[in-house]
Amino acid sequence: MALLSILCFPDPKLHTVAKPVLAVDDRIQTLIADMLETMYEAKGVGLAATQVDVHERLIVIDVSEGRDTPLVLINPQLIWASPETHLNEEGCLSVPGIYDGVQRHDCVKVEALDAEGQKRLIEADGLLAVCIQHEMDHLMGKVFVEYLSPLKRNRIKTKMLKAQREARE
Ligand code: NI
Repeated sequence: MALLSILCFPDPKLHTVAKPVLAVDDRIQTLIADMLETMYEAKGVGLAATQVDVHERLIVIDVSEGRDTPLVLINPQLIWASPETHLNEEGCLSVPGIYDGVQRHDCVKVEALDAEGQKRLIEADGLLAVCIQHEMDHLMGKVFVEYLSPLKRNRIKTKMLKAQREARE
């Protein structure tokens, strides 16, 4: 297994739209293992392949307290979303240190392949529902800060660029 480097906002590669995974083969199994290791190491609850610069529809999530219940979603399709929505405080491994409110559906149903390539239906609410919506946005090239006002987004962009500059020095 290997730790992968995570793209940081405002890297334009984060806006790439991911393509479907064509086969759940050894390459994908290795990617899943590496993404899980990277997510746990970074103390995140979710990671989309887009964030590690692989533009295929693959997400790993773990919202459990014990950090021992990984969920793998390959080629996820949203098949239902509750009309009820909530404002949730979100963060993102690609926008470190930034947290802000995003309106999300309370419950979602998603169809996806699991790590073994089996089709599964996931019914999610609470943090898992928020996380799935956040990660599926990544696959569409969307970062959560794009829901915020242009003013806030620009402030975050400036802050991120400054932090990235300082990290290089
Ligand atoms: Ni994110």
